[in-house]
Amino acid sequence: MIKPKVGRMFLATCVGSFFILILYFQNISRSASEQISGWNSFSVKSGRSPLQTLQENDQLEQSAVQATLQGRRELLEETCRTHTRKRRVLGPEDLRHLIVDDKHKLLYCYVPKVACTNWKRVLMVLTGDGRYHEPLAIPANEAHVAGNLRSLSEYSTAEINKRLRTYLKFVFVREPVERLVSAYRNKFTRSYNTAFHKRYGTKIIRRHRADPQAEALEKGNDVSFEEFVYYLVDPQTQREEPFNEHWERVHSLCHPCLIHYDVVGKYESLAQDSRYILKLAGAEGEVKFPATSKSTRTTGDMAAKFFDNISPFYQKKLFNLYRMDFLLFNYSVPAYLKLR
Ligand SMILES: *[C@@H]1O[C@H](CO)[C@@H](O)[C@H](O)[C@H]1NC(C)=O
Repeated sequence: MIKPKVGRMFLATCVGSFFILILYFQNISRSASEQISGWNSFSVKSGRSPLQTLQENDQLEQSAVQATLQGRRELLEETCRTHTRKRRVLGPEDLRHLIVDDKHKLLYCYVPKVACTNWKRVLMVLTGDGRYHEPLAIPANEAHVAGNLRSLSEYSTAEINKRLRTYLKFVFVREPVERLVSAYRNKFTRSYNTAFHKRYGTKIIRRHRADPQAEALEKGNDVSFEEFVYYLVDPQTQREEPFNEHWERVHSLCHPCLIHYDVVGKYESLAQDSRYILKLAGAEGEVKFPATSKSTRTTGDMAAKFFDNISPFYQKKLFNLYRMDFLLFNYSVPAYLKLR
């Protein structure tokens, strides 16, 4: 299965792109790593990378968590095979969302609205050389400051390839509509998010409100969910610029068909999946993934209410926009969506 793909990819390098190397080495590593982990079962257990630990675990009798994660990985690979035709080349700009922990050999692709602040905090503790101890003691805004964590896009091609080949790559995903409603609530219904109101709200109101008041046009602070949906499904929006990362699809942020994630964590099983990753990294003693407060988080029931006054025509358009995220990560269409 792997051989012809590698062959095609080798041809593609002749066409002239340098960054195809990233893909090429990753595919090689898939078959090579299986051999390596076979050899490793004879070696001493200490000093293994999290990726090696994962591969060894998969060969032993699997726990329920491991079996679930393997199922997700296989489904993702299968969906990629059947739904994506061309294997595009990865460039450094595609790797901006991948955060590097060189000490524990981890690569984390962050997806906003999927506990990414807490994962960034945890990675700051893990990479901080003792500067941080308690994730929740790190202010949220500090976790998002560029420069506190390193992105894979900052490395040279050779260094990128080495990390993609040998580090444990993981991502966390969430039911797409719930994630979208969560982004809307956070960015458009909180009075403090003035930057988003100015940057996106004013444009949305100008384009998608029939008879806007001068104040709304000026402040952009009362965008309705309906208007937000019109903005998302309007073809002009994405012609102008990529979606903001808070509502961009995981498919576009993390390239799960080009980067073979070793663990696909889910928001719906956040605590369990996070614990498993920290265990693989041998970091259980260093940091605990923070327990999330449930009081304000967006749930399916809450999301349902936002669709009451959206016509099936637009619901369907919105679903189509996020369709790949539903398919790749095995989410079923929420019962409240009316697609006919
Ligand atoms: C996909 O989701 C369904 C139902 O939501 C579940 O029963 C099934 O086990 C999942 N498949 C995988 C591979 O995770």
